[in-house]
Amino acid sequence: MPSPACIILAAGEGTRLKSKYPKALQPLCGKPLVLHAVDAARAAAADPVVVVVGAGAEQVRTILADRDVRIACQQELKGTGHAVMCAEEALEGYQGDVLVTCADIPLVRPQTLSRLATEHSQSGAAATVLTTICPDPTGYGRVVRDEEGRVQQIVEHSDADEQYQRIQEINTGIYCFQAAALFAILPRLSADNVQGEYYLTDVIPELLRQGQPVAAVTAPDWQEVMGINTRAQQAEAEKIARDRVCQRLMEAGVLLLEPTSTFIDCEVEIGSDTIIWPGVVILGQTQIGSDCLIESNVRIENCRIADRVQVRHCSVVTDSRLGNEVQVGPFAHIRDNSEICEQARVGSYAEVVRSVIGPRTYDKHFSYLGDARVGADVNIGAGVITCNYDGQTKHRTVIEDGAFIGSDAALVAPVAIGARAYIGAGSVITKDVPPDALAVERGPQKNIEDWAKRRLEK
Ligand code: UD1
Ligand code: MG
Repeated sequence: MPSPACIILAAGEGTRLKSKYPKALQPLCGKPLVLHAVDAARAAAADPVVVVVGAGAEQVRTILADRDVRIACQQELKGTGHAVMCAEEALEGYQGDVLVTCADIPLVRPQTLSRLATEHSQSGAAATVLTTICPDPTGYGRVVRDEEGRVQQIVEHSDADEQYQRIQEINTGIYCFQAAALFAILPRLSADNVQGEYYLTDVIPELLRQGQPVAAVTAPDWQEVMGINTRAQQAEAEKIARDRVCQRLMEAGVLLLEPTSTFIDCEVEIGSDTIIWPGVVILGQTQIGSDCLIESNVRIENCRIADRVQVRHCSVVTDSRLGNEVQVGPFAHIRDNSEICEQARVGSYAEVVRSVIGPRTYDKHFSYLGDARVGADVNIGAGVITCNYDGQTKHRTVIEDGAFIGSDAALVAPVAIGARAYIGAGSVITKDVPPDALAVERGPQKNIEDWAKRRLEK
């Protein structure tokens, strides 16, 4: 069977979400709705894929830039039937079957789209509607069948009388058509309904009127084809999408101690035998290797984390990379394109920003390293600060291999500490330190004998 084309309707504003952002860009599991729909169509081998954009067209286009899709523009939002008409030009000359789906149906599985396309093509119907039985069909178009069970029409909720509203079988908003039959019939639609729109659903009775066969396929799992029209539906879909991510990761061998309290975005990859504690949030384009330990209430966003890494309680790691066997936290903050190399440790209340920390370097307590390049086997004492900002510009600190930075030292950047050099505790270092030197910068200590005794006597 040749693969079908696909049209994705994504022009709607999403009025019912009461958002200032277009519906196609609403996030679900860390990814805009429209990309869920595009990726499902692509995974079902649909080609070409046309996305109809309208509300927020420029932003939606930008999001789609790295996907292999054609864009069609719907200037005025005149309904789903009109939106499909707008895609005709992008499919000019195309003769086969075409799937139609919507950006607001993000959970549909590629297999379901494929099954719809296969059954459609085998039945020889001009149109096949994907339906489902929904416990609460409120808001959806109802599927009206005759005594023999043949689909006759779809009645929108707002156009449905009480008798139709009782029907639990709904139109999912996903269809497969013979492209030629679809585009021939679209100009016949009228906007004579409660919403004053050209409904794609009206294609069904029009085709039947012309004596063309219409079929239906019923999806067994209504949640997979739910539409996102309200914030409540968005939250429900979010939960389902997150459950799926957890399932996928558990099948890949990840130990999620409490999946229901774990928030993992849909594109995150995690290796086997990694243990994820409750309350963990892992977002964006994050990859975590195997045998890692991610303790409770950790937040990781857009990071690459190698194998056997430990990220301990309450740490936040953003846009950074952690090498093999790195240990971070508890309560560490690593951000903005930092790299912690293998076997290094960044301990409690340490912050690392735009810095590279070399292999086996220890930075274990209360420190701030910003715009620093720290070599291998360095010891950063408790409370060490890089003074990287002079009020106007950020400056770099370089610490070469094997250096020892005493506790509470302030390194005023730009400054370089040579290999194996020692910095005395409490020093404020403003000049470069040569390799193998000791730099101390602090007033000589004065001991005043019996001072405390004399104070008491007074
Ligand atoms: C639609 C169906 C309804 C079905 C439901 C399933 C129609 C008339 N109704 O209703 O039968 O049960 O989906 O979720 O088709 N869009 C455009 N341009 C427009 C209008 C809409 O691109 O002018 C897009 C929207 O961005 C959205 C999709 O089409 O992705 C569906 O539109 P929406 O307004 O959500 O229709 P529903 O009321 O959900
Ligand atoms: Mg909808």
